[in-house]
Amino acid sequence: MINSHIVVLGYMGCGKTTVSSKLETILNLPSIDLDQFIENKLNMSISQIFDTKGQIEFRKIENRFLEILLNKKTKSIISLGGGTPCYHNNMDLVLKYSKNVFFIKTSTEVLSSRLYKEKSKRPIIKSISSVSELKKFISKHLFERMIFYNQAHHVIDDNDNGIDSVCRKIVNKLIL
Ligand code: S3P
Repeated sequence: MINSHIVVLGYMGCGKTTVSSKLETILNLPSIDLDQFIENKLNMSISQIFDTKGQIEFRKIENRFLEILLNKKTKSIISLGGGTPCYHNNMDLVLKYSKNVFFIKTSTEVLSSRLYKEKSKRPIIKSISSVSELKKFISKHLFERMIFYNQAHHVIDDNDNGIDSVCRKIVNKLIL
């Protein structure tokens, strides 16, 4: 029914995984989270990979598994890690294999309050000690990453209208 993968990207905490699993039900297509795929294959959490192998090695692993997922014949909904589009040739690969690439754009305010509560699971931000520091960090980091995120075919503004509204917007824009 669909002949190109659907790819969901955006900053940590923007709801990529939740949106993808909701789309899985709506569209009756499998959804795969790249971070979870890596964790299952290596039998290690993302934090453990960062701690034991370092970020450079993680980015190599991420690139390798992204290519594997994109090469699968069965079309699926793939949610990327927040940094995936910004390393190696990942964004070129995504655009080569998918006509349906969606960037979920969420404000720094919403991201920082969501992420502060669960920062210990996220190696990139776990050592940031206050919400205001986190907000400063995210605003700079997001600015640097925007050049990659904006290459998505569609930017879906999540103006706090919730997951259902994000999913509806994606479904309306799909190229089958
Ligand atoms: C990262 C985001 C994480 C995970 C890793 C690095 C990043 O994914 O891939 O911790 O660089 O933004 P989520 O966006 O799914 O949390």
